[in-house]
Amino acid sequence: MPTPPQGWPVSPHGAASSEVVAPRTRTTRSAPREKGANLPAVDDDLTTGGRVLPITRWGTPVMHAATRRVEQFDDGLRTLVRDMFATMEAASGVGLAANQVGRDLAVFVFDCPDDDDVRHVGVVCNPVVELPEGKERNLDAADEGCLSYPGAYETLARPDHAVCRGQDLDGTPVEVRGDGLLARCLQHETDHLNGIVFGDRLSGRARKKLRLQHDDLAPRYPADWPVSPRTGPADEDDEDEDSEL
Ligand code: NI
Repeated sequence: MPTPPQGWPVSPHGAASSEVVAPRTRTTRSAPREKGANLPAVDDDLTTGGRVLPITRWGTPVMHAATRRVEQFDDGLRTLVRDMFATMEAASGVGLAANQVGRDLAVFVFDCPDDDDVRHVGVVCNPVVELPEGKERNLDAADEGCLSYPGAYETLARPDHAVCRGQDLDGTPVEVRGDGLLARCLQHETDHLNGIVFGDRLSGRARKKLRLQHDDLAPRYPADWPVSPRTGPADEDDEDEDSEL
């Protein structure tokens, strides 16, 4: 997903704005921690020192096929996740899936505020999302964007709560519950790992609008962005851009 809202919420861990710190996710104010749920833990070692990688764009085959399950919870996986945190931060994103850095592997990272502006930082391998049904299901129609299709946003209605289950970097089961932007992020990143981009969920007409916006702004994003920075003037919109995933 795209950029975070202006001014990072400060978590109880004291994480400041543009830093990627907060070693543990589920700094819950809203969604209460479920008893017995294993919560993803993120070491400082994962959120610092990574290499910024080019972000893969829509149209590249790895973006449009289901990724392989993570089976090896080894140092190679930690290195990939460290690089994904660095890349997400460089692109001012709130979520990033491994196929967005060209890797065919079912793992995503997030650094994303929830509905109460509490920041959550974490990683999930082999995610499966569970969405509310029946009376519990409320759709939230908000703008959504994607780091792999930079510069374009379109309204997409998604359930306003999500539960994402998977594994941490040691293979231990984890569960992340989210509302607000975090609910959207969990759904968007899990979609990526299943080979679905959010444009696939839009009407033909909305998709066309999205493409026109993208075509307009795409020249500002070098092919290896965010390794090379975006070009052109910073515009006022940057301040309150909706988050990219
Ligand atoms: Ni995306």
